[in-house]
Amino acid sequence: MHPLNFNPAFTSLLGLVYLLPYTVALDNGIGRTPSMGWNPYNVFLCDTNEAQYHTAAQNLVNNGLNSLGYQYFMLDCGWQGLQRNATGGFTWDTTRLPSGVPALASFVHGLGLKFGVYSDAGYFSCDFVGGSAHWLGSLGNETIDAATFGEWGMDYLKYDNCYAVSPTDFVNYNPPIQLQPHYEAMRDALARINRPVVYSICNWGVQDTARWAGPIGNSWRISNDIGPPNNWNNIIRIINQVVPITQFAKPGAFNDLDMLEVGNSGMTVAEQETHFAFWAAAKSPLLISTDLTNPAQATLDILKNTRLIAVNQDRLGASIAFKRRYTNDHDVWAGPLADGSTVAVIINWVNSSRSLTVDLGDIGITSGIATDLWTGSSLGTLRNTYTATVPAHGSLVLKLTNTTPFRLPSFTYYPTSSPSTSLSGGAAFRTVNSTISVAGNVGNGGSVTLTGLDGGSGGTKLVSIDYINADFTMTNTACSNCRNAIVSVNGGVGQTVQMPLSGQSWDIVYSGYLVSLSGFVSGKNNTITFSNPNAWTPDFYRVGVAN
Ligand SMILES: *[C@@H]1O[C@H](CO)[C@@H](O)[C@H](O)[C@H]1NC(C)=O
Ligand SMILES: *[C@@H]1O[C@H](CO)[C@@H](O)[C@H](O)[C@H]1NC(C)=O
Ligand SMILES: *[C@@H]1O[C@H](CO)[C@@H](O)[C@H](O)[C@H]1NC(C)=O
Ligand SMILES: *[C@@H]1O[C@H](CO)[C@@H](O)[C@H](O)[C@H]1NC(C)=O
Ligand SMILES: *[C@@H]1O[C@H](CO)[C@@H](O)[C@H](O)[C@H]1NC(C)=O
Repeated sequence: MHPLNFNPAFTSLLGLVYLLPYTVALDNGIGRTPSMGWNPYNVFLCDTNEAQYHTAAQNLVNNGLNSLGYQYFMLDCGWQGLQRNATGGFTWDTTRLPSGVPALASFVHGLGLKFGVYSDAGYFSCDFVGGSAHWLGSLGNETIDAATFGEWGMDYLKYDNCYAVSPTDFVNYNPPIQLQPHYEAMRDALARINRPVVYSICNWGVQDTARWAGPIGNSWRISNDIGPPNNWNNIIRIINQVVPITQFAKPGAFNDLDMLEVGNSGMTVAEQETHFAFWAAAKSPLLISTDLTNPAQATLDILKNTRLIAVNQDRLGASIAFKRRYTNDHDVWAGPLADGSTVAVIINWVNSSRSLTVDLGDIGITSGIATDLWTGSSLGTLRNTYTATVPAHGSLVLKLTNTTPFRLPSFTYYPTSSPSTSLSGGAAFRTVNSTISVAGNVGNGGSVTLTGLDGGSGGTKLVSIDYINADFTMTNTACSNCRNAIVSVNGGVGQTVQMPLSGQSWDIVYSGYLVSLSGFVSGKNNTITFSNPNAWTPDFYRVGVAN
């Protein structure tokens, strides 16, 4: 597809005009695979200094991480000066970095690493300084700052989003301006310096970054910070947020799920493993952000898993995609690799170790030769299912070759907008655009019932749900970046079905959410009801019942 021949502009709820997905990536010649490296923020926040940077860079090398690909060594907040110099140039904090940034860059380069600079697409940078003193930002000074950072030795730029609206508006998750031009200005400034620089956009997913950042940056943050505090709930929040945008990952342009928490306290080893495997297979940058002085063996075992690193660095650059959620039980995600094989990540949502059976059909195959990417063991040929013991919140990560594809059944679709649909409580139809409308305001007492569904010979049926859920969040909530619907067939016992985001505006449909529902009777007199007594559900466009 040519990027210019479709893409009608549409107006979001914020009243801002976005362009629909480009198929191109920033063509700056580098960052063709996700960046790997080290950043201080998750462990040291903005409280950094020269000695600490030296130690951290040395540790990256001493632990053998650089030779596995972790080569971008970065500054984060806290290195900058408070005032520009007499000719408007960027400055550093001479107390924290007495030898200066160029000397630090030389030190880093001397270790065989690449050097990352951190700045901000705002009037100031993110800070914990308080009062009226603020670290410098680069908004309006992109040209001089890109040139300065380049002279200092920059190979990578992380570009944050604080004070983007005004010098007094620290963090705005719903800014009244478009952020895209801020990021384009720095992209263009970087293009004018004669130096390859990986460009990392960090605007926390605000204004649905994935839908416009491909031609601008090598990666873009999709969510608010992973921490602090470090905990499993952040992993859930971020995984739900990447569901509608996995298709935007491609060579040179990647979803950034935020820096790694591997090695930091707050998650079990199994949770850290799931976090790392998911990030690797979603083609997120892999940025270590822990203190590498005396790391635990488990930390190194995770970070140094060469099979997962190879998945992350696979030249196809395709992310795993959401395939199936068994609510409160397990998720199945899968995607292709350059050699024609499939990688699958299965997440155990249950907080206990247990036997878990994976239906290979959820991965999209009926059989394949499998390797366990955590252990490297060959699992031989799998057919139809695979059962293994998985730790609490742990994962199965499989590479499958010589696969035979699985075909979903065909579905008969029933739009909620049909005249035979009944709404109750506050539920109401909502027009999305000229072609579709949805049942909205479902939940919190409102419900929608579709009638006249063909149950075939009855019993349990596979159902495919098309819905809209744009209820995205910057903090952890009861259902972070997801909504629960209670789904009932023929008025029977309701089943809780958890549906992740479909996008960040209320006109992007998620198509094909699969759930098995029991209680169908034979013939064409079945009903499905969506409700939730105490929370909102998604808006429902249509339901397909397997033939
Ligand atoms: C750019 O830097 C100059 C100082 O050299 C400052 O006066 C100006 O406000 C900065 N631009 C913006 C948009 O902050
Ligand atoms: C100000 O900073 C710029 C960029 O580092 C540098 O080129 C210039 O020499 C500095 N000017 C003064 C007066 O220090
Ligand atoms: C998981 O279970 C462990 C042990 O029972 C408990 O300490 C921990 O808080 C639980 N984790 C979550 C995220 O609920
Ligand atoms: C209406 O929205 C749906 C779901 O996002 C989309 O697939 C369809 O192309 C849209 N139709 C028009 C006319 O914009
Ligand atoms: C359809 O089901 C309803 C109850 O759900 C029942 O009242 C009605 O008689 C049924 N109609 C037919 C034609 O079976």
